[in-house]
Parts: sequence; structure tokens; C-alpha cells
Amino acid sequence: MRKLIVANWKSNPKNLSEAIKLAGASDFKNVVIAPPYPYLEQVGKHIRRASLGAQNVFFENGGPYTGEVSVSQLRHLKVTYVIVGHSERRKNLGETDEMISKKIRASLKVGLNVLLCVGEDWDTRRKGIVAAKKFVANQLKKDLAGNRKRGAGNRKLLIAYEPVWAIGAGKADSAKTSAEMISFIKKILDTKVLYGGSVNAKNAAAFLRQGGIDGALVGSASLDPKSFKAIIKARDSFRV
Ligand code: PGA
Repeated sequence: MRKLIVANWKSNPKNLSEAIKLAGASDFKNVVIAPPYPYLEQVGKHIRRASLGAQNVFFENGGPYTGEVSVSQLRHLKVTYVIVGHSERRKNLGETDEMISKKIRASLKVGLNVLLCVGEDWDTRRKGIVAAKKFVANQLKKDLAGNRKRGAGNRKLLIAYEPVWAIGAGKADSAKTSAEMISFIKKILDTKVLYGGSVNAKNAAAFLRQGGIDGALVGSASLDPKSFKAIIKARDSFRV
């Protein structure tokens, strides 16, 4: 089976026609395209091979929650994946581990595949890999609190290891260290684990050739069709 590549468009592109164009150029098998909410429906209609993902979701399934989008609403738009706990949301929106754990529960309940993002900041990583592992283990424990179905029992929960300092930095973690962290995560949780943080056309192969790395979460490079295609090409030479 091919490894999974998730395109996280973040708050891009600027309009629907660009989104549709980008979706067409990113429509490959074993790819998840995660556009901003306003483009979900149209992007969903324009893709045939890729799956549709959302970048966030709310933890209550409908009701008086201004500005929030529910798991059922996502399901009705044919969304099958949801990214939860991205560090940009933790940092800029004050998303807490408790909120994240509720989002995971609500999403799994309706059958959405969850991609939970975890990863340490630079202050932690500076102290070494042992400190980073401790940080990530703690995050997993808190984010998965109350989710009894986690791990072996639930194939719908995936993890993205994204060292925060490597996101949008143009400088990725080393393939070797991230593979070490990912195998550590797999000891805690029997699930697929992707790497994310400045994955691009040049370094994708180094990550994807690691047996334990099950795919990549790609931000900025997913906005450039040429780079994204090169990542898919690299991916297609390595199987899980
Ligand atoms: P990046 O983003 O590839 O631009 O570093 C990855 C992410 O935030 O998911």
C-alpha cells in the first residue's frame, strides 16, 4: 500500500477558482486534501482519487456554537479525514488538550478518520531527544484522555509528528531523528504515524524511505503543484 500524503492548505488559496485548480492538480490516490472550510464542498466535487479532509472541527455535534462546524456537517460534505490539534491552532486559537480530546471523540464517533498532530517546541528539543519524547508522550496522554478506542482498536486514529519548530520553517527535522520519534510514538500507540514540518520536493524521499514513517503532512509545498507532484512521485517509490 502507498504511504499517505496529507495536503494541509491552511488559510489558502485566496479564492474558489484557485482552490478548484489546485485540487485538480493534487488529485492522487492515497492523498488527503484539506482545504479551508469554504472550499470543502466544491473541492470534494472536483476530486476523484484523493480523499477530502478538514483542518478542524468542533466537539459538539451542532447547536448554539457561533462560528463552529460540526462533525455531521463535515460528514455531509463527504469529508473523511479531519486534522485535530495542529500546533497553529494550539498556539493562535488557544486550543487546549481537553478541547482536542473532545474533538477526537466527536470525530471518531461519526466515523471520521482523525489525524492528531503532536510535536515539541524548540525550547524542549534544545534539551535533547529524551526531553522531546517526554513532551510528545505527555501530549498524547492528554489529547487521548477519555478516548477508549484509541490505538490497536481504532484504525481511524492517525498521528502526525510535527516538531513545531520545523513547521513553515523551511528546515525539516532530520529523517533519522523523526523516525526515532515516530517509532517511540508507535510504542505508545499502535497506529500509523506521519511526519510533518517543512516537507518538500527535495527532502520528501528521505522521510518516506524510512520504513516506520507512514506518510507526510505537507503544508506550504502542497500549494505548489510542481512540488506536490514531486512529493507524490517520491512517495510512490516507497510502500508501507
Ligand atoms: P509546512 O507545514 O509543510 O509548511 O511546514 C506543515 C504543517 O503545518 O502541517
